[in-house]
Amino acid sequence: MASVNNLLLIIYLTFIFSPCISAASDSKGFSTNLIHIHSPSSPYKNVKAESLGEDTALKSTLSRHAYIRARQQKALQPEDFVPPPLIPQAIMFLANLSIGNPPTNVYVILDTGSDLFWIQCEPCDVCYKQKDPIYDRTKSDSYTEMACDAPLCLSLGSDAQCSDPAQRFCAYKYSYEDGARTSGLFSYDNVAFTSHYSTEDKTAQVGFGCGLQNLNTVTGYRDGGVLGLGPGQVSLVSQLPAVGKVSKSFAYCFGNVSDPNAGGFLVFGDDTYLNGDMTPMVIDEFYHINLLGIGLGIGEPRLDINSSSFERKPDGSGGVVIDSGSTLSIFVPEVYKVVRNAVVDKLRKGYNIRELRKYPDCFRGKIGRDLEFFPTMVLYLESTGILNDKWSIFRQRYRNAFCLGFTSGDGLNIIGNLAQQSYKFGFNLVQNTLSIESKPNCR
Ligand SMILES: *[C@@H]1O[C@H](CO)[C@@H](O)[C@H](O)[C@H]1NC(C)=O
Ligand SMILES: *[C@@H]1O[C@H](CO)[C@@H](O)[C@H](O)[C@H]1NC(C)=O
Ligand SMILES: *[C@@H]1O[C@H](CO)[C@@H](O)[C@H](O)[C@H]1NC(C)=O
Repeated sequence: MASVNNLLLIIYLTFIFSPCISAASDSKGFSTNLIHIHSPSSPYKNVKAESLGEDTALKSTLSRHAYIRARQQKALQPEDFVPPPLIPQAIMFLANLSIGNPPTNVYVILDTGSDLFWIQCEPCDVCYKQKDPIYDRTKSDSYTEMACDAPLCLSLGSDAQCSDPAQRFCAYKYSYEDGARTSGLFSYDNVAFTSHYSTEDKTAQVGFGCGLQNLNTVTGYRDGGVLGLGPGQVSLVSQLPAVGKVSKSFAYCFGNVSDPNAGGFLVFGDDTYLNGDMTPMVIDEFYHINLLGIGLGIGEPRLDINSSSFERKPDGSGGVVIDSGSTLSIFVPEVYKVVRNAVVDKLRKGYNIRELRKYPDCFRGKIGRDLEFFPTMVLYLESTGILNDKWSIFRQRYRNAFCLGFTSGDGLNIIGNLAQQSYKFGFNLVQNTLSIESKPNCR
């Protein structure tokens, strides 16, 4: 931990630095703990191991990349709005919320790439298997339907299905790229945040998707729902400031993804905790940051990358998106090639580790045992940076095989979960800044 702080100090000296913003208010926002998907208390702890070839983390990262690009290029019309596929096996942390009265616990995936918060909702027409009990709207005293002309329903835009005059309540429909879909009623209920910062729960009445037809294409269990953290009006990021008198901001921290006992937290609208160094953010439907360069080794020269590879184009495409729903990072091919070569070169020369013949981005060995003193990768951002140690550069796939934690994709860069671990990211949607704070344990 101390060494992480020292490394950060070096980054401080490398840049001309903006001062930290100090806490201005003592209001506590809505917060909850995050649970590692393989933690002993996770409902998904027993998801089966997969073969090296399967790689759901890679597949789901690539399909999110395709989705975000299509949205950027406006290739997707509103009527075929497709939120990114999220596969529980590839996701590291779930938020633990409770909803209704009496409350039902729900474990949902955080998704900065979509806006709607939806859960499976009994009595379902079609519900897929989920590990924990499904929320039942008929058993919740605080459940309320939303009228089609409610402002929140109107803000669903073309995702709302209110054209049928017989339709009294706000209906929605979402399709996933992989064929999964969810539709149901956009309704109100009380959501309790089982506070990370205090013992007191905070409750807010919010609009959420009560999923009545939920089609799963993944074999086995799937998450109980998705917590959209996009900037749109339907998102809790926008709803909570209106109902809870908190600022329009949120922060999350993913602990050590390689440690099933690691924790994390999610907090909404709490400026008190948006500490750390800030970098500007461009917000359209996604959260873009300015990546300026990449280095392998603190104090080493930056890798030879043309910074135009990271730039967001005038038409809004390209750039670098920070995404809570991608496991791996994605670099455009010319960046990927340079970074990959630097990493593989280091493995070959410094560690005598070679690629597995059938899996070009995978290697024989153990990250913990075989990569002692592997250099830290530095993501140089405007005014700050992110340090990635070997546990963020690589991921252990099997007892004796590990793979790169990043891959290649055309036209758009994504900073994924692996690269985000052990940092707290504070998204300030008023000032359009992202604060980045090293928090090894996410306490
Ligand atoms: C989720 O939160 C509830 C309510 O605070 C708690 O009882 C439950 O143990 C939590 N689940 C996990 C896996 O920590
Ligand atoms: C993360 O977890 C792995 C596996 O338990 C461990 O070996 C590693 O030291 C941890 N990293 C940090 C920074 O604590
Ligand atoms: C970087 O790429 C841009 C766009 O492809 C090009 O115009 C520019 O000349 C390149 N710069 C260098 C130093 O190669």
